[in-house]
Amino acid sequence: MNPSYFIETYGCQMNVADSELVEGLLQKQGYTQSKSLEAADVIFVNTCSVREHAEEKVHSQLGRYDLIKQKRPDVLIGVLGCMAQSLKHDILENRPYVDIVLGPDSYRRLPELLARKQTIAKSQVDTTLSKFEVYDDLFPSRKEGINAWISIMRGCDKFCTFCIVPFTRGRERSRSIHGIVSEVKQAVSEGFVEITLLGQNVNSYKHEGKEFHDLLESVAQIDGVKRIRYTSPHPQDITDPLLDVMATYPNICNYIHLPLQAGADSILKRMNRTYTKEQFIRLADRIRQKLPNVGISTDIIVGFPGEKTSDFAETIDVMNHVKFDSAFNFKYSPRRGTKAAEYDDRVPEDEKQARLIKVIELQKTHTLERNKSFIGRVESVLVEKESKRSKDQWVGRIDANKWVIFDKGIAQIKDIVSVEIIEAKGVSLHGKLINKAEAA
Ligand code: 5AD
Ligand code: SF4
Repeated sequence: MNPSYFIETYGCQMNVADSELVEGLLQKQGYTQSKSLEAADVIFVNTCSVREHAEEKVHSQLGRYDLIKQKRPDVLIGVLGCMAQSLKHDILENRPYVDIVLGPDSYRRLPELLARKQTIAKSQVDTTLSKFEVYDDLFPSRKEGINAWISIMRGCDKFCTFCIVPFTRGRERSRSIHGIVSEVKQAVSEGFVEITLLGQNVNSYKHEGKEFHDLLESVAQIDGVKRIRYTSPHPQDITDPLLDVMATYPNICNYIHLPLQAGADSILKRMNRTYTKEQFIRLADRIRQKLPNVGISTDIIVGFPGEKTSDFAETIDVMNHVKFDSAFNFKYSPRRGTKAAEYDDRVPEDEKQARLIKVIELQKTHTLERNKSFIGRVESVLVEKESKRSKDQWVGRIDANKWVIFDKGIAQIKDIVSVEIIEAKGVSLHGKLINKAEAA
């Protein structure tokens, strides 16, 4: 019988896409997907190092694998991704039951290392970072669904001082437009209607003179692509041509993730974010002006070393000005090897916690305010799933990336329908189906 695998994925969408790539590789070798962790011959965990909390979750999961291996010594355990890259020595030393450790640029070697592991007892390790690997020719194995994640570039050269990504994922490199376009076409032929272009710094895409807006335009012109999203961009590389392409093509969603991180110039400088508070606000204003009703989300870090109460007030000030549609808020956690981990003017934990609560509470009011501004509008919605509350209702997202709940009517999953927004409650919208006309 063919051996079976099970992959657990933690962290960002890049990891989700990488796991699909690994699944594609395994299936080519004759592996089948196991229904459960307990029954699998090989267990992989694709890991995340971005924050302490993410690593803790993986560590506790690895403890569980240890118990499985004690019961079934033949099972192979593989650690993939960012923690494999950043904590290789730790893992090899403290978790001897781990058989394979593979960094994000080494997945091609997986079949070879799996084969070697059959005859060699020693753990198999490859954490070489590459300047070129983009897996352009490998097709990921996707579960049937609505959205296909398509990785377009890898790595990050920005070196924000809090961030471990440039160390775990290496230097920036981009795939060819040709390779991306053929993967999108394949995804469309498999029934996917939404494409999300992915990269650690998605909008610094560059390949043979082509930039991110060129790629976006090429993807928007592919038949059958109902919706395009992208994540995660850096404010520095949001250009006018990019906003123009977004405004031109109705199938490019009216939504931008614009990570602020902090509001005070001194903190932004110390974070190496390359923009000032003023520049960020001006950029957000320009986006709202060029793309009416755009959804803007953000990432905020509170309690970065040296962040004084007055600095934190600047973050609140930017939030009050921009009124983000949603925000992912984090307490700063030092990451080994990054520059900021060496700063010793750390903010006390209880102060970080108090600031986190403040941004979460403020964001709730902004989200509601922004959502309310959509009441009365007719929005195009991609029908994604049944509501958890009622089997008579669908849930889908409007262009600006807000969830809306509405009675099913004659709409079907994967349809783009017109929905009138009638209510804003919590983080969701409630609406009324207007018609089933296909948009875009
Ligand atoms: N501490 C807290 N948050 C972090 N992020 C990245 N590194 C850290 C860290 N050391 C956050 C940033 C980034 C998001 C993906 O994670 O806000 O945009
Ligand atoms: Fe990390 Fe900054 Fe690169 Fe984003 S841009 S991955 S936050 S270093």
